[in-house]
Amino acid sequence: MKKVTLIKGDGIGPEISEAVLKIIEASGAQIDWDIQTAGADLIETEGSPLPQRVLDSVKKNGVALKSPVTTPIGKGFRSVNVQLRKDLDLYANLRPCYNLPNVKTRYENVDIVVVRENTEDLYAGIERQIDEDSAESIKIITRKASLRIAEFAFDYAVKNNRKEVAVVTKANICKLSDGLFLNCAREIAQKYPQINFREVLVDNCCMQLVQNPNQFDVLLLPNLYGDIVSDLCAGLIGGLGIAQGANIGLDYAVFEPVHGSAPDIAGQDKANPTAMLMSAIEMLNYIGEREAGTKIRKALFATLEAGIKTADLGGDYSCSDFTNAIISRL
Ligand code: NAI
Repeated sequence: MKKVTLIKGDGIGPEISEAVLKIIEASGAQIDWDIQTAGADLIETEGSPLPQRVLDSVKKNGVALKSPVTTPIGKGFRSVNVQLRKDLDLYANLRPCYNLPNVKTRYENVDIVVVRENTEDLYAGIERQIDEDSAESIKIITRKASLRIAEFAFDYAVKNNRKEVAVVTKANICKLSDGLFLNCAREIAQKYPQINFREVLVDNCCMQLVQNPNQFDVLLLPNLYGDIVSDLCAGLIGGLGIAQGANIGLDYAVFEPVHGSAPDIAGQDKANPTAMLMSAIEMLNYIGEREAGTKIRKALFATLEAGIKTADLGGDYSCSDFTNAIISRL
């Protein structure tokens, strides 16, 4: 039986984790869960929001399913999510984004894959208060990280029959940092003549995505633009409640939804577990439990097709009733 780490997180994390565990169990997938907690609550008892035991567990099992963890805004400890990605060198953040059945949005046939560099850029966390009225943050872009994420995006495009990779930067302004990222993408693009290569500035990219998202295929972005643009892409298909994601490195993979801990609806049985479930389906595929993954996807789609939806999608089902509706279709 395959051992997988489950990081329960906080906010809506425990609710959606519970929902996904129940669905996976009902699917018959053979998983021995190694359940780990992370987040602010642990600072008092264990001295850190990301105790070493969590990292050790992912290192031992090689794969994890993670629900969101709150990061204090404008103060406090460093993001557990950023730390985890950095400590495990999960350099590629993969966020496929496509319309789900019976989820009405302004756009049809959206099918975009966001490939976000996951280890550097402004997320390096190098910040300094210069004086009371000024602060600076350092944006780190390296050739090594840029080349490997570009290679990941093109390799993904080839393996998944995609036609185009668009590199998204602000290289007209950040000439050195984004310029380096762009040049690395150009270099890798040469090795993949079968994939169309396109260069877009991030501001224009946002406008184009809102006007005509169907023109895009695979997007390749540095960390911060990737974060922002992937939330934008989630908005194109019905919101954060359905946007899946994965953090992938050479040795480990951590699957998690795009969304955060949604403190505004936490503990109210209102959260949509779909984003976490879709991330879990990719995790099941990754560990070779493809049959269970396909079964769950079919049950999820049939549930949505029957008009059973949580509040974020305009429905009136609670998280637990939506979960039970999926299980009854498995
Ligand atoms: P958020 O993604 O938690 O919420 C944004 C909006 O989307 C809220 O209105 C929320 O209710 C809604 N939403 C999100 N997920 C939903 C779901 N599954 N079902 C229904 N509605 C959902 O973003 P926000 O509020 O900016 O961040 C809250 C906290 O989460 C912050 O501390 C942030 O740092 C953290 N965060 C953690 C992430 C992670 O663990 N990977 C990723 C993003 C944010």
